[in-house]
Amino acid sequence: MTTPRRILVTGHRGYLGSVMAPHLVAEGHEVVGLDTGYFDDCTLVPGVDDIVTVEKDLRDLDVQDLSGFDAVVHLAALSNDPIGNLDQGWTTDINHTGSVRLAELAKKAGVERFLFSSSCIMYGASTTDVVDETSPLDPKTVYARSKVTAEQEISAMADDAFSPVFLRNGTVYGISPRMRLDTVLNDLVANAVVRGSVQVFSDGSPWRPVVHVEDVARSFALVLDARREDVHDQAFNNGADHLNHQVRELADIAASTVEGATVEVLGQPGADQRTYKADFAKFARTFPDFAWKWDARSGAQELADTYREAGLGVAELDGDRFVRLRWLNRLLSEGRLDGALRWTEATA
Ligand SMILES: NC(=O)c1ccc[n+]([C@@H]2O[C@H](COP(=O)([O-])OP(=O)(O)OC[C@H]3O[C@@H](n4cnc5c(N)ncnc54)[C@H](O)[C@@H]3O)[C@@H](O)[C@H]2O)c1
Repeated sequence: MTTPRRILVTGHRGYLGSVMAPHLVAEGHEVVGLDTGYFDDCTLVPGVDDIVTVEKDLRDLDVQDLSGFDAVVHLAALSNDPIGNLDQGWTTDINHTGSVRLAELAKKAGVERFLFSSSCIMYGASTTDVVDETSPLDPKTVYARSKVTAEQEISAMADDAFSPVFLRNGTVYGISPRMRLDTVLNDLVANAVVRGSVQVFSDGSPWRPVVHVEDVARSFALVLDARREDVHDQAFNNGADHLNHQVRELADIAASTVEGATVEVLGQPGADQRTYKADFAKFARTFPDFAWKWDARSGAQELADTYREAGLGVAELDGDRFVRLRWLNRLLSEGRLDGALRWTEATA
């Protein structure tokens, strides 16, 4: 039985958040969201829930904003690696400094549990065969570094009254109202559906752990409800061993959802060869009764079916709306966001 809690979910209007927040409500929690709404115009399928929202930038919060909550689920971030190329300072400001400050305010306000949405990307192009939570971190990008430093500094705040937990997700896939086509399986299936062909720029050998957005929401709900001694100040690779795939395999799975779709492995020099195969034994040991509902095959089918129903075409695939980096660039070029990635007065 879930213990109902009052939870602040940051980033609740994004890809994960627009699935996570309603899931937590359905579990019986009282949810308040906090989001600046960068992607409010980026809805693919209906279903963004009406959640009570603090309309603030994460960087502008004060301690009153955190008072009265039992837990924080912290998703708000500039999310995905190339976004670090936009302006490295923004990724550091929001993902690192903003997260640490949020945790400080939460602790000050007496929030007991703090779930940080982290990433397996922090293991980098690992030389170890399989990476577990004790493996050396080798962040290769500003995004990955922001997750490492935020984890380290938030972990240092853990004490008897404040329990941070770090959930290092694999790459997330699956349908969300605030869809992203810039994560690996979402992108591969979109290409299969729209173009009938899937291109892999690397040689296809890199490993990626993938996890369905609904399963991420379920796993966060589980951790919110877990006994303190099982999760206090712990990092978990969030997923399951059978969800590690080589990119070539994911491309084959994506193509199999569309009759006649082809796969082309380009093996381009300089393509993204980052590889990490994650060990999920700690999560499985801690939560032996939890079953992952989705796998890459069932998720790819769901993606293909929904893309077809939504009429996904070249305009969506090549356009700005469902690729985080492109959309932020568009908001900047239209003057809707300023040089600090804040809404301009005209837009506000
Ligand atoms: N999607 C993935 O594959 C993946 C994998 C591992 C970890 N993560 C992490 O999970 C979290 C959610 O990812 P996502 O895919 O939903 O990203 P997303 O970009 O879809 O959503 C992020 C949300 O945060 C909000 N936000 C960003 N900066 C903000 C600020 N300064 N103030 C207030 N709100 C702000 C945005 O408006 C957006 O709604 C992120 O922390 C991300 O790093 C995601």
